Amino acid sequence: MRERREELDELARGLARTPKTVSSRYIYDERGSELFEAITRLPEYYLTRAERGLLTRIARGLIGEVQPRALVEFGAGSARKTRILLSAMTEGGRAAVYVPVDVSEDFMFDTARRLRDEYPSLKVRPEVADMTRGLRPAARPPAPCIYALLGSTIGNFTHEEAVRMVAGLSSGMRDGDVFLLGADLRPGPGKSLESLEAAYNDAAGVTVEFNRNLLRVLNARFGTDFDPSRFRHRAWYDAANTRIEMHLEALSAHAVALPGGPVISFREGETLRTEISCKYNRAAVSSLLEQAGLEMVRWWTDEGCRFALALGAVTSGGGSP
Ligand code: TRP
Repeated sequence: MRERREELDELARGLARTPKTVSSRYIYDERGSELFEAITRLPEYYLTRAERGLLTRIARGLIGEVQPRALVEFGAGSARKTRILLSAMTEGGRAAVYVPVDVSEDFMFDTARRLRDEYPSLKVRPEVADMTRGLRPAARPPAPCIYALLGSTIGNFTHEEAVRMVAGLSSGMRDGDVFLLGADLRPGPGKSLESLEAAYNDAAGVTVEFNRNLLRVLNARFGTDFDPSRFRHRAWYDAANTRIEMHLEALSAHAVALPGGPVISFREGETLRTEISCKYNRAAVSSLLEQAGLEMVRWWTDEGCRFALALGAVTSGGGSP
């Protein structure tokens, strides 16, 4: 009950800001998760394919070098990319432990069951936790361990939030453990601004639905009366802040009621920010890891220089006993 009150207050505060903002935490309800899965298959959304290709290229070398006995994956979802790492880890029947960590249990327990069938030597120990609170697994995984935060999940947080989160998630790391981080890259020689913006403005309109779905979630959760058809989807690259901004823009002036709170009025063309997706380069990832207490020891990009994977390790003298 108290939690709901706090959430409502947070919603009211966000809607009082300029531009109006709403926590992206509500984007991934069941429908939101399905829509995101659909996004990962869109021709414009290169991120998932680029990362999968990159993982396939580096998996054996990485596993050979780290010799991990465990993989902890934050925001595991359907674990499609995870299989690339798990296959390399369990090759030759070697036993390993896989700890998917996710807020949504149903999805994760389903995936866990399937992975146990596919990898008989694998121990799967799912954990329900909100990674945005920086929680690491309750039971210490065997060492060496790969902690993975893939996709461009890191991009959905501001710099301060991202540093705090990675610091929390990696706080149990010991010598020999590594942190594998996926990051989408800024426009550059091999990557046009157009291709980046297209990934967030697909022709089929799946991202429009993904964006508008947030209003349905708010209506169901808080009793607001947002009318999704009164908003259009807008997403663009903000070069100054090196991030994609996703907004919903009011097609005409109108008001939305917030139960137990103020009436929120929208001007025509006024926007509501629903999500950010920060873009990186090597220096930005390295400094993020460093501020979180890790040292960047490897950096890989896909052939198109669109997406990167970075490997962090505990700095000597760092790490918990
Ligand atoms: N993690 C994804 C990303 O940053 C989430 C996402 C998919 C997204 N489509 C989006 C975020 C559109 C903002 C706008 O790419």
